[in-house]
Amino acid sequence: MKTIGVLTSGGDAPGMNAAIRAVVRTGLANGLRVMGIQRGYNGIINGEIFEMTSSSVSDIIQRGGTILRTARSEEFRTEEGRKKAYNVLKVFGIEGLVVIGGDGSFTGAMKLSNEHGVKVVGIPGTIDNDLAYTDYTIGFDTAVNTVLDAINKLRDTSTSHERVSIVEVMGRRCGDIALYAGLAGGAESIIIPEQPYDFNELCRTIIESKAKGKMHSLILLAEGVGGAEDLAKKIEEITGIETRATKLGHIQRGGSPTAFDRILASKMGARAVELLMEGKSQRVIGIRDGKIIDMDIVEALSMKKKSDDYMYELAKILSF
Ligand code: F6P
Repeated sequence: MKTIGVLTSGGDAPGMNAAIRAVVRTGLANGLRVMGIQRGYNGIINGEIFEMTSSSVSDIIQRGGTILRTARSEEFRTEEGRKKAYNVLKVFGIEGLVVIGGDGSFTGAMKLSNEHGVKVVGIPGTIDNDLAYTDYTIGFDTAVNTVLDAINKLRDTSTSHERVSIVEVMGRRCGDIALYAGLAGGAESIIIPEQPYDFNELCRTIIESKAKGKMHSLILLAEGVGGAEDLAKKIEEITGIETRATKLGHIQRGGSPTAFDRILASKMGARAVELLMEGKSQRVIGIRDGKIIDMDIVEALSMKKKSDDYMYELAKILSF
């Protein structure tokens, strides 16, 4: 293999730049040409491709977002779109592709490889931590720390006013951001899509907390369960305690990556290039029990993510 391409796709995540840097510099160190592809799969179709040098990735390890930009490509979802993309890859001599993104991006890579034989390796980049085959995805740790910082601030004002504070965080199908930030932030309740929740029990917890002398109640809510504003109104109505809702939104997707995310991204980026050089394809990189692993893309995509029941119960016990 002489030439590889790298792209970021789907929602951006802090640490994507560190991963791009690792891909580019590992590739160059091994004598490969590395092509940067802009705006995800759309960038292949539109030929937004340029050769990267070591200095293309200088001064980016600490930056959030992605220097390659990102997109969710509708055209690439079609067979025709992927055929166009393959033809463009051929023009640029790109034989191997490193895709940094989430499950949708991996599915696209798998299809491109099945239909046209392009060698692909996926690096998990998403704040959601919603990929079952890996313990962590790039960007998750930074997002959890961003939420934690917000929780610390919200605690101050909630305590002063003796209010209930609901913090809505990202996570449509996966409640990991809420779960990890909730445990780390000492939340009274964590509401996530993977665990059943009972509104009456939630209100009882809030009322009992107040009776025990707690100055405020903090509730972490994953967006997949519902909106914070509606829940706040309902809680206030039933408990009679002033309740405020805060939706953190895209703040969670930005910011300088934590050391954990930078190291994870660096290791994963390097491993992705090694795999391509070994002639491997349709692999995704992950981390399990602290070790970098790789796995078949089809198998990885077929795994169902489960939430950590132990963490969920622990958060409940510790907030009592
Ligand atoms: O998948 C990452 C994510 O940030 C989700 O947590 C969130 O639901 C979604 O992307 C938001 O997408 P967009 O940036 O397109 O609004």
